[in-house]
This record gives sequence, C-alpha cells and structure tokens, in this order.
Amino acid sequence: MNATVTRPFAIVTGASSGIGLELAREAARRGYDLLIAADRDLEGPAADLRAHGGTVVAVEVDLATRDGVETLYSHAKNRRVDALLANAGHGLGRGFLDQEFAEVQHVINTNVTGTLDLIQKIGRQMRRQGAGKILITGSIAGYMPGTFQAVYNGTKAFIDSFSYALRNELKDTGVTVTCLMPGATETDFFERADLMDTKVGSGDKMDPAEVAKIGFKAMMDGDGDVVAGLKNKLQAAIANVTPSAVLAEQHRKMAEPGTKQ
Ligand SMILES: NC(=O)c1ccc[n+]([C@@H]2O[C@H](COP(=O)([O-])OP(=O)(O)OC[C@H]3O[C@@H](n4cnc5c(N)ncnc54)[C@H](OP(=O)(O)O)[C@@H]3O)[C@@H](O)[C@H]2O)c1
Repeated sequence: MNATVTRPFAIVTGASSGIGLELAREAARRGYDLLIAADRDLEGPAADLRAHGGTVVAVEVDLATRDGVETLYSHAKNRRVDALLANAGHGLGRGFLDQEFAEVQHVINTNVTGTLDLIQKIGRQMRRQGAGKILITGSIAGYMPGTFQAVYNGTKAFIDSFSYALRNELKDTGVTVTCLMPGATETDFFERADLMDTKVGSGDKMDPAEVAKIGFKAMMDGDGDVVAGLKNKLQAAIANVTPSAVLAEQHRKMAEPGTKQ
C-alpha cells in the first residue's frame, strides 16, 4: 500500500444535527477526514462518523464570534482543505419588535458574519492551493420576505446572493462555490427558532439526509446552486416572479404564531 496517499479533508459546520450532520455523513462515506463544528458537544456525531474510517476532529465553538471562527480555523490552517461545507445557521421566529436584540444579533452573526469570516479564511487557503470546493447552506427563504422570521430570511437572501458573487470572483482559481437552498426540512431548526406553533413548523418537510445528498452532489459537480426537492424548486420559481408584498403576506400565513394546523 502507498503510505503517501492521504484522504481528502473537509470542514463541516453545524454538524451536530440536521442537514450538517448528514452532509458530514456524505463526506465520511466518500473517505474524507473531517473537522466538524457546532456550539454543543459533538462527541456522539464524531464517534458515529469515525465508523467510516477517517479521522474526525470535533470542535465546540460559537461561530457567531470571531474567536469561535479563529479557534475552528486553527485546526485547519496547516492542512490542505478540499471542501468547506459552511452550513451552521439558525432561525428566529416571532415579530421583529418582539424579539430580543441579542438573539437577532446572534442570527446575523452566525448566518452571515461568522459564515463569511470562515469562508474568507478557508477560501484564501483554497485559492493558494489552486483547488477547493465550498458549499454554503442558503435557503429558498432567501427568495421571500420572511414575515415573522424577517431577520432569518434576510440573512439567507444575503447568503444566496453572496454565494454567486464569490463563485464568479473565483471562477479562474480552481475553487468552486455552490449554494444549497433547502426548503422546509425535518430538523431541530423549527424548535430552536420557536416556530413549532406555526404552519411551517408543523407542516410536511423534507428528510435532511435527502437534502444533504442533493447538496453534496451539487458541490462535487461544481454547480452554482441547487434547490432541494421538486416542490421547493416550484416554490422558488414562483417566488421569482411574485411581488414582494404578496410573498410577505404568504409568509405571514406560514410563520405567524398560532397558525399551526
Ligand atoms: N430546516 C430547514 O427547514 C432549513 C431550510 C433551509 C435552510 N436551512 C439551513 O440549514 C442549515 C442547517 O440547519 P438545520 O435545519 O440542519 O438545523 P439544526 O438541526 O438546528 O442544525 C443547525 C446546526 O448549526 C449549528 N449552529 C447554529 N448556530 C451556531 C453557532 N452560533 N455556532 C456553531 N454552530 C451553530 C447547530 O449547532 P448546535 O447544535 O451547537 O446549536 C447545528 O449543528 C442552517 O444554515 C439553516 O438555516 C434549514
């Protein structure tokens, strides 16, 4: 056996549950060594991922903070990074004026600031390498004003847009950028965002394993974006040609507290 052959290496954020854990499973099944991060203990998921034979380093950090991002980066900067799956993020339901500003800030700092900080650090490394794959978890929520989840949808509109701009900036570098845009997916997201008494929180959702499979394939193929699932593709296409005021009213019907079916 050739001892110089090394496994590819991927970083997956938000890998403690949901789509991120499934993205990490996709990578592990393909023989990647992994650096995974979340804001809670990750030893359970890490042990599970190690069963695929690669090394798995788990880092517990708050990626809403620059210190948290730097700590994660310190585990990656001395190694070639083949893939970055920037997936960590969370929502926040209820009316904007009724939310705590510290929570609002945490959504923005996680979904936007921390995500960009990490992508910039790893992206520079990939550009030096002349190769790399970046998958960013955006959302079809980025296509619609998110009445009763206004800040979250705004962060995803930012990410969906940013992803394509960065992709274009890097087009001649060997680094690809792909945006995974899920619709409602069966994860801890809705509970954590206090959306369980809403129509979207209690309605039908996609399987996170299926969403991750679609996203991982799009990243490997170097696609610009992928909307997960036919129903969500239709929803995104319709949103593109619907006035914002109509979309905002539709979102109210899905996310207003007390709309649970
Ligand atoms: N579920 C959906 O319907 C849906 C739809 C479209 C897009 N998305 C996006 O998909 C991504 C994954 O969400 P999910 O649905 O899989 O929900 P989830 O099961 O709640 O997973 C979210 C992951 O992000 C991590 N995370 C959140 N804030 C963090 C922070 N400040 N620092 C470090 N880690 C943090 C969580 O870690 P902890 O366990 O430590 O909190 C968890 O691992 C998010 O970006 C979300 O916006 C979800």
